[in-house]
Amino acid sequence: MPGAKRVYLKTFGCQMNVYDSERMADQLSAVGYSETDDIESADLVILNTCHIREKAAEKVYSDLGRIRQVKSERALAGRDTVVAVTGCVAQAEGNEIVRRAPVVDLVIGPQSYHRLPDLIAKAKAEGRQQVDIEFPEEDKFAHLAERRVTPNASAAAFLTVQEGCDKFCTFCVVPYTRGMESSRSIADLEKETRRLVARGVREITLLGQNVNGYHGTGPDGAPWSLARLIRHLAGIEGVERLRYMTSHPRDMSDDLIAAHRDEAKLMPYLHLPFQAGSDRILAAMNRKHTAADYLALIGRIRAARPDIALSTDIIVGFPGETEAEFQQTLDLVARIGFAQAYSFKYSPRPGTPAATMGDQVPDGVRADRLQRLQRLLERQQTSFNASCVGRVFPVLFERPGRRVGQLIGRSPYLQSVHAEADPALLGRIMPVEISGAGPNSLSGVIRAA
Ligand code: 5AD
Ligand code: SF4
Repeated sequence: MPGAKRVYLKTFGCQMNVYDSERMADQLSAVGYSETDDIESADLVILNTCHIREKAAEKVYSDLGRIRQVKSERALAGRDTVVAVTGCVAQAEGNEIVRRAPVVDLVIGPQSYHRLPDLIAKAKAEGRQQVDIEFPEEDKFAHLAERRVTPNASAAAFLTVQEGCDKFCTFCVVPYTRGMESSRSIADLEKETRRLVARGVREITLLGQNVNGYHGTGPDGAPWSLARLIRHLAGIEGVERLRYMTSHPRDMSDDLIAAHRDEAKLMPYLHLPFQAGSDRILAAMNRKHTAADYLALIGRIRAARPDIALSTDIIVGFPGETEAEFQQTLDLVARIGFAQAYSFKYSPRPGTPAATMGDQVPDGVRADRLQRLQRLLERQQTSFNASCVGRVFPVLFERPGRRVGQLIGRSPYLQSVHAEADPALLGRIMPVEISGAGPNSLSGVIRAA
């Protein structure tokens, strides 16, 4: 009988990390750990980290300072604490972490976290730090504990279908932290989907750093596209909604666009980063598309699915970006109209080609451009939300609201929707007439089905 041990797990960064944290929790649950929000009671502390921008990476070291105190206080009380750094900072800075932060016992890259229980045992037995940042031959998914069937879990879940990237955008660490592209097999994903449905999941977001480059092996032994995977999973009873992210414009194939037209379970919402509006900057980023290519692609997607809402990622202040080139980013945003977007100041990342390009844009200029861009994006988001008032949306209720008697759900467009609702409706999709819209959420009233 495994002892009652506790793990405190903190997740930084993207949805893929959220998914990985959940799989680690499953893995640890199988060897007797339960999760806690109270770091002082934790026998195992895991920071699942992100390396995408400098700020995210630096946060890890400040957290480790605080963890060092907790660990020594616990030691005085005779209790051991194992400290693990996992994820993308672990992958990128493995040995440096061990040097900079002796409090850390384990450094484990995103491809090796299935070895977590073994590495904990090894660190304890050998009494020294363990670093595992190989890209192992074995497939971690084949070694992980099965997804737990937990009661009261959320009705929406992530499912990693593809990892890594070999597009090598010049600003991006992902090809170095997550490695080359690899796709999980259709059979493996079908099995995990059935597990998720069994625990009450109704909406699944398929994840990959380059998800529309998915090419997993199908039951026929041939590689299947993302569109085919979507159609296959949509055929599973209990799966009611599908989404995917993040996509690259170069991999928006005709069959994927057609799936947006034909597959009712695929939500009319697409996150499609374009990063910059200037062709010169796009070329320097190695994006391999122009602004006109992106516009034409959006035109084809909208022709297939006129009510689709769009989201994107944008970087301002890439090395060499002039004011006129930044204006082209604003122009592209204005021409397309986004329901939602993420925008970032360019952050030089060690080891990436852009970090050593001349002509880095001063931080003050980057900050100013970001503010101007975000003002435009906020206006677009607010007006998109306002345009939803009076419409009836199918809303998947996911969690209780702050007020008693209220639930929060998601619209097809990924907006949070607040409504007065019976708690028994958690996990169900109900028609909601939208009556109010703010910059970040909607409210509405349930209509008779
Ligand atoms: N600096 C700023 N933003 C970045 N992103 C990726 N790398 C960097 C960087 N070095 C942004 C991109 C990407 C999103 C996940 O993060 O917009 O699409
Ligand atoms: Fe951050 Fe990229 Fe790693 Fe996600 S994959 S955690 S965004 S560095």
